[in-house]
Amino acid sequence: MANAISGFSKLSKLDKIDWLINTYFTDKDSAKTLITQYWNSNEKLQKLHDEFIENTITNYYLPLGVAPNFLINDTLYTIPMAIEESSVIAAASKAAKFWFDRGGFKTTVISTEKIGQVHFTYNGDFKTLESFFEKTKPLLISSTSDITKNMVRRGGGILDIELRDKTKELSNYYQLHATFETLDAMGANFINSCLEQFAQTFKNEAETGLKGDLDIVMSILSNYVPNCLVRAEVSCNIEDLKSKDIPNPELFVQKFKQAINIAEIEPFRAVTHNKGIMNGIDAVVLATGNDFRAVEAGVHAYASRQEKYSSLTHCSINNGVFKFWIEIPLALGTVGGLTNLHPLVKFSLELLEKPSARDLMQIVAVAGLAQNFAAVKSLTTTGIQEGHMKMHLMNILNQFEATAEEKTNIIEHFKTNVVTHSAVVEAIEKLRN
Ligand code: MEV
Repeated sequence: MANAISGFSKLSKLDKIDWLINTYFTDKDSAKTLITQYWNSNEKLQKLHDEFIENTITNYYLPLGVAPNFLINDTLYTIPMAIEESSVIAAASKAAKFWFDRGGFKTTVISTEKIGQVHFTYNGDFKTLESFFEKTKPLLISSTSDITKNMVRRGGGILDIELRDKTKELSNYYQLHATFETLDAMGANFINSCLEQFAQTFKNEAETGLKGDLDIVMSILSNYVPNCLVRAEVSCNIEDLKSKDIPNPELFVQKFKQAINIAEIEPFRAVTHNKGIMNGIDAVVLATGNDFRAVEAGVHAYASRQEKYSSLTHCSINNGVFKFWIEIPLALGTVGGLTNLHPLVKFSLELLEKPSARDLMQIVAVAGLAQNFAAVKSLTTTGIQEGHMKMHLMNILNQFEATAEEKTNIIEHFKTNVVTHSAVVEAIEKLRN
């Protein structure tokens, strides 16, 4: 076992790497080369990445791919996706083209409200606290004017602050529940700064103006944003679904709807169903420099808002029309944070024609819906493995460092044979012998 180290963060990057190599690795040279060969030769670019986080030793690459042909409210997009999983981008592109030919995706932003809370305890009675809060509320808002003035000038800012009594669930526990409009910013810094100012003003005022003890526990935004909602939808006449993959549209929609209904009532299926949606969503969120952990946490909380965890997508069949939609909370930004810093994030946003946060919410929701359409379509027709293993074939070939000629040969062979890991290994070995 290694000894604890103090002052690690103060070491230079190379010294950090030396310590790691000497402490944990047997083949020291190749471990070190592995780390340093992922450095960017452009020193300025490397420094930029080094400074995103703490204790950086190298870069960890993910592929950035694109899915073209997304027609969203009659505008055509090529969507950037950063993801390591094969098949996701192929599925998105296929769904995009499928719906391009059937009128594309229709989207609406339902609401854009963000939330933050000051959590505090108070040992007096609620009525006293309530009248103190009402009296102090204008001051809470005005005390943040330095923080909010630019946002207010652009049309955003604090929407409201409510006092919430949570003492039935936890003794002495109350909240200042605040709502915000943060426009094109994701708003985490803005919200947290406002909340910390509310907390300080509230505490200061309570010292002289409130009977009893009031203690601030913490001030932080909520990643649960059920009122920052976007909807994306596709629909067409059932007979218009007819295609190479869907020879019998009537049968297809019945099975497709059954699959959605299963995900609506069965949490074990809903989790995997929603995971597939997040394949699309996270990939665009990451490519555009947004916080995918925040999005994940908020989306899954939303999926559990009724009595049990459920599907994020829904489907209807009425009067010969098939409709398929998603409604999800997405707190995204297209300014601030990584958006102005990471060159590939800038590239991705330009590729999307510099979207507003509202535009990006709609694009991301569409990526999730498209991904789910592709997954459920495969699952209820051919099964998922056929397409998956074809994509996986390339990963196995790369693992075996197959030459271009070997790749062509083996891909041809698997056009008519079932791809399994062992079948590919066998085919490579046979070819090489
Ligand atoms: C795999 O990453 C995603 C799927 O499992 C989603 C689903 O089952 O709907 C294919």
